[in-house]
Amino acid sequence: MNKNIKKMIRGKKNIGVGARRVVYDLGGGYVLKVAKTKYGIMSNKIEVMIYRLSPSEIKKHLARIEKFGNDYSWLVMKRYSLMLKKTDRNMRKLFAMKAKFRKYGVVPYEVTTNSGKPNYNNIRRKSNGEIVVIDFGNFKRHQILKKK
Ligand SMILES: Nc1ncnc2c1ncn2[C@@H]1O[C@H](COP(=O)(O)OP(=O)(O)O)[C@@H](O)[C@H]1O
Ligand SMILES: [Mg+2]
Repeated sequence: MNKNIKKMIRGKKNIGVGARRVVYDLGGGYVLKVAKTKYGIMSNKIEVMIYRLSPSEIKKHLARIEKFGNDYSWLVMKRYSLMLKKTDRNMRKLFAMKAKFRKYGVVPYEVTTNSGKPNYNNIRRKSNGEIVVIDFGNFKRHQILKKK
């Protein structure tokens, strides 16, 4: 692990691990995502790109990215700790959100499981009740973006 990352995570608590990244609580409402492998670096890069290119209608469903390393080995993201409850209303909201991403040419992978259940590892709830995706490192953008 790179020296700067070691410095950033010193004394910080590990709050999550996925297949591609390790996540630390930086305090003050922020987390640090550190790539475990080259796929982690790709995920960080995709998150930065998707976040940058998304219009506000879908950006409001993406966890806010604060900063990132030039080599994409790490990124700082806002921390979201409210879990989504499994209600019919939230299920409808989740599917509406997925449809909205698609409408803007973004394929929202890993937001639900293969059996159509919410993937609670990757989604949270904002204080205003909106669903927010905290892992969009596997999203894909269509080459030709639809106008609306
Ligand atoms: N912004 C965040 N706020 C709170 N917890 C987070 C955040 N980002 C990630 N986590 C936690 O860390 C875990 C791993 O992060 P994730 O981005 O999903 O990594 P991976 O790409 O390896 O799946 C998540 O499942 C979640 O528990
Ligand atoms: Mg994940």
